[in-house]
Amino acid sequence: MSLLEEIEKTYEVACKELESISGLEDLEKFRTLYLGKKGSVQSILKKIGSLSIEEKKTIGQKANTVSQQLEELYSERKSYIKKLKMEEQISGEIFDSLRPVDISGSGSLHPITKVREEVEDIFVSMGFQIMDGPEIETDYYNFGALNFTEDHPARDMQDTFYTEDGNLLRTHTSAIQARALKELKPPFRIIAPGRVFRYEEIDASHENTFNQVEGMVVGKDISTASLIYTMDQLLTQIFHKKTTVRLRPGYFPFVEPGFELDFQCMVCNGKGCSVCKQSGWVELLPCGLIHPNVLKAGGLDPEIWTGFAFGLGLDRLVMMRYGINDIRYFNSGNLRFLKKFA
Ligand code: PHE
Repeated sequence: MSLLEEIEKTYEVACKELESISGLEDLEKFRTLYLGKKGSVQSILKKIGSLSIEEKKTIGQKANTVSQQLEELYSERKSYIKKLKMEEQISGEIFDSLRPVDISGSGSLHPITKVREEVEDIFVSMGFQIMDGPEIETDYYNFGALNFTEDHPARDMQDTFYTEDGNLLRTHTSAIQARALKELKPPFRIIAPGRVFRYEEIDASHENTFNQVEGMVVGKDISTASLIYTMDQLLTQIFHKKTTVRLRPGYFPFVEPGFELDFQCMVCNGKGCSVCKQSGWVELLPCGLIHPNVLKAGGLDPEIWTGFAFGLGLDRLVMMRYGINDIRYFNSGNLRFLKKFA
């Protein structure tokens, strides 16, 4: 092979190789192999020294051009790989944008807090009062008073963290239902927002620490119709859009009948899309009419008093509202995420 052919061949092979490189480590290997002190380009340039003056001119020029072109292609590839890496990293951190975020300046409300305050306002405008309860709860308020007997299998679905003195991190805000029944005189309407905890395998849609808003209405002649109306109101005001809800049967020991409430997907208006997994409906919350045993545990006569209750998953609602695709952002403390809501 003549030197000219060698130069051309080297260029051709190098270009092909470069195109297939997608990592910085491989790119560095490429640089050493072709552009380094002991690389192919240098060894070609060395050979030029022994050529005749005439050949030096033509072949030397060719060799210089190829060397320059390879340097350029190498730098281009390097910035391309770096850009790809950065985009990958950013899109993993932010749900809807690749724009860089300025993380200077003062703090702001967490998206969960913002939506929680909106939900509170909506319910307060409908005559609800806001109640609070402890995050470390007794077994009685978290389970016992809510019709979970000692060895009820439904307890398994809400495994949690126990303290040494036999208390537990509440698994749901329903514990506040039991407290409200003891503390308040019916009729009453409450919502109770709060943090809850479960022993969960963490992934994009599961957290061990998340947020719920409990709702409870106790009065005379409270029916499923009251429940549907209230949920309709909530959704219309949260999403600023009229919406349709539906009920499916669901089981919880403290409601009878128990339901899962879905609303018609607002992205496709029920036609089916990726948000609603082609079903036209999005699952919103479990709810139901308060079980007579729960009313009794609260000292009320179920022949006189009735009620409904619901447990709104606040994290889910916030994710839907802002198009957030990973629940783990919420507790991450990631400023890039938090600043989106400043
Ligand atoms: N507490 C239940 C849960 O966290 C939800 C629920 C609340 C169901 C109120 C019915 C009524 O899974």
